[in-house]
This record gives sequence, structure tokens and C-alpha cells, in this order.
Amino acid sequence: MQVHHIGYLIKRMNKALSAFEYLGYRRTGAVVYDEGRDAELCFLKSAGGGKICVELVAPRRTSSLYGLLKVYKNTAYHICYQVDSIQEEVVRMEQNGYRMFREPEPAPAIGENASVAFLMSPAIGMVELLEMKQTRD
Ligand code: NI
Repeated sequence: MQVHHIGYLIKRMNKALSAFEYLGYRRTGAVVYDEGRDAELCFLKSAGGGKICVELVAPRRTSSLYGLLKVYKNTAYHICYQVDSIQEEVVRMEQNGYRMFREPEPAPAIGENASVAFLMSPAIGMVELLEMKQTRD
């Protein structure tokens, strides 16, 4: 599976943006509010050949992610893999011990046709799946 981004749980968006920009990352879009996760999101890409994409997630106090932030502070907390079909991948992964805890939902911060789902592995923790739906022309 192809890695799409690494998700970082962070307390303060501006400080995290500065820190990643210092490391050579550049924003690929504006900071947006994601209703589903009740968090501010922003994506950055590393300079140079590697092209690592980082997603900054700053949960509000009312977010279900706020508890995680309290425990882990500022940290990388998931890797997102781009797949052709979330539905098919979830069937396969659930047979291999993964448990889906967030059903597929739109991910407007990534793109108009993007949807994501979250799974938990007892061995490696949280994994996100991303599907870019094909648009008909
Ligand atoms: Ni993510």
C-alpha cells in the first residue's frame, strides 16, 4: 500500500507549522476545520526528493481526539495508506486482526472525492485508509 501521509496530533497549529517549516516542509493548503473530527487540519510536504506528506491535526477541546492529545502531547499517531477500495481493503484487514473504529467518511481537507476510514491494529495501533473516488466524465 502506498503511504499518503503521516498524521501528527498537535496542540497549537501555528507552532507546529513553524516547526515543520523550519524542517523544510511547505504547506500544500490552508488550515481547515474538519467537522467530523472537530479539529483544525493542515497538510505539508517535505522539500527535496522524498516528498513526505504530513497532516497536522489540532483537536478542539470538544473533539473525541482531545483525550489522545492529553495523553500523547505532540506526536505522530497514524500513517495513512491510499487504496483503490476502502471497502475491499477493510474486509481483508479485518481478517488479519484489524478493527475498523471509524467508518468511511468524506475527507474534504484532502480532496473533494476523498474518503477515509480508520482501523486499529493490536500490533501497530492506528491506520488510516484513503480512497480517491473516480470522477465520471
Ligand atoms: Ni490522516
